[in-house]
Amino acid sequence: MCGIIGIVGNHSVGQRLLHGLEKLEYRGYDSAGIATIYNGKIQRLRAEGKLVNLKEKFLAHPVEGHNGIGHTRWATHGQPSEVNAHPHANPKVTLVHNGIIENYAELRHELEEKGYTFESETDTEAVAHLISLYMEKGLSPQEAVAKALKYLKGSFALAILFTGYDNLLIAARQGGSPLAIGYGEGEMFIGSDAIALISLTQNISYLEDGDWAVLSPEKVVIYDKTDQPVNRPIQKSHLSESGVNKGKYDHFMLKEIYEQPQAIEKTLASYLKEGVLSLPSLPWESLTRLTISACGTAYYAGLISKYWFERFARLPVEIDVASEFRYRGPPLAEKGVSLFISQSGETIDTLAAIEYAKSQNQTIVSVVNVPESSIARCSDVLLLTHAGPEIGVASTKAFTTQLVVLALLALKAGHSRGVLSDKDFEEKLFELRFLPALCEKVLLQEAKIKTIAQSLVNAKDVLFLGRGISYPLALEGALKLKEVSYIHAEGYAAGEMKHGPIALLDSVLPVVVLAPFDELFEKTVSNIREVVARKAPVIALTDNKGASHLTALSRDVLVLPETTPLLSPFVYTPPLQLLAYYTALLKGTDVDQPRNLAKSVTVE
Ligand code: AGP
Repeated sequence: MCGIIGIVGNHSVGQRLLHGLEKLEYRGYDSAGIATIYNGKIQRLRAEGKLVNLKEKFLAHPVEGHNGIGHTRWATHGQPSEVNAHPHANPKVTLVHNGIIENYAELRHELEEKGYTFESETDTEAVAHLISLYMEKGLSPQEAVAKALKYLKGSFALAILFTGYDNLLIAARQGGSPLAIGYGEGEMFIGSDAIALISLTQNISYLEDGDWAVLSPEKVVIYDKTDQPVNRPIQKSHLSESGVNKGKYDHFMLKEIYEQPQAIEKTLASYLKEGVLSLPSLPWESLTRLTISACGTAYYAGLISKYWFERFARLPVEIDVASEFRYRGPPLAEKGVSLFISQSGETIDTLAAIEYAKSQNQTIVSVVNVPESSIARCSDVLLLTHAGPEIGVASTKAFTTQLVVLALLALKAGHSRGVLSDKDFEEKLFELRFLPALCEKVLLQEAKIKTIAQSLVNAKDVLFLGRGISYPLALEGALKLKEVSYIHAEGYAAGEMKHGPIALLDSVLPVVVLAPFDELFEKTVSNIREVVARKAPVIALTDNKGASHLTALSRDVLVLPETTPLLSPFVYTPPLQLLAYYTALLKGTDVDQPRNLAKSVTVE
């Protein structure tokens, strides 16, 4: 949600904090701020809006000091404004915060009664005042933080500076707001993730739930939730600066779309070696139902896999968005398996759904892109995707790599359950080997997609339709378009259109139809005719065979390779991503950091 960085170092930190914030901006970008401590005094700079505004302030008034913290914000409590921007400060304590302090209202009330005044609407300021209150009672910074942490409820990460303490930085993590500790030479670091620390160190450890850490330039001491010193393993980060730069591309989104063939190949290769599929064993034979839950694009990946699991493994799938799953409290099968999908591995709704599934004695299987993430760590079976860091807020390569893992899993389930014969199984695995090449081929359609985007740019609404496995793809196409271009878009099952959305159709409402020449093609054509009869312009995504039927009916036809139910999501996804990208580009929106969104959503 928000991004945190901290450096307690041996030379100036101002510029380096800003550099770290650049890497974290994908986590939130409605305001930013830094604070350093110099000769015992706090220097603070904050700015509303993108990081560039803070950088300008820094150029005009650079802050000095070897110890500092920084923050990029995604507003929860209080509007995005300078006064609500972090760091928040009082005469003793300056801090940045990610997540939510759930008991902040009562805390604020108690602190106001004790004479504290609040300048912001945030929950964060209450934490600063609480620590300050304990210090005023004579506690050291460490003691005050330890005591305050016992009082705070919610899921959060904190980084705290103390007036008068040039070499002290305290960090804390509770719940699903990750914090990485970085180890340097005579310098120590904290960051919301390893990406923030990429140019500072490769030696990283991760705080666990309830941990807090005291950092000085020479050492880090980590305490667990019972305040006992603990060791957390230090790992080498394999991230590289070039892996998190835009390279030759104008936007991360475009770069990540083009990284898909590679990312798919890498993910495939990690499970499929010389034609042999290696996946952790799961009780596929005895399962009566598979439960899947996730959010946003990851949910749509799950929805696509429902078609695969049901088709290839005859395994009934129940799927729900994580924010509903948890509160619906569905009865889950005895000794069941629940599958969760998340790029970041930090989405709080998904984590909460996992908690629920755990309470129902389910085996937790997760498909995650970030190995150190909370979801990865709390799963019984972890299936990693190898998309590499995804920085663009709109998920692209994470989605297709999730599909790779889910396809393999569905095939494995089908084979184990005896639905797929050895031959069918081998053939389907063989089919998947063509994915990277297929994806590359599809990306060659960029110029045509760019042209189609021109016809969407002035639309107020766009409808995406698909049948069968193309239905969840239509949902994903609509999500991508609305996320980055701000054009209202709806995904609908093509057959369901006549039950309502047909009322919207007129000559200015473009309808994007996913129509591979499959067993449902004829039915989809009937729906296209219904659209055409209402004069709505059709943009058809189809293959050669389909094109011969659709050219006369459509304003635009994008001809894609012929495909199968296993491969079609991989063939139809990149064009939908490019369509959203180029429409957004023409509209002039901020493609990588669309308004109001954040990459990892760590609040409910
Ligand atoms: C997709 O483009 C989104 N920005 C969003 O829907 C995302 O997929 C969702 O928030 C889930 O995130 P996760 O995969 O990190 O759990």
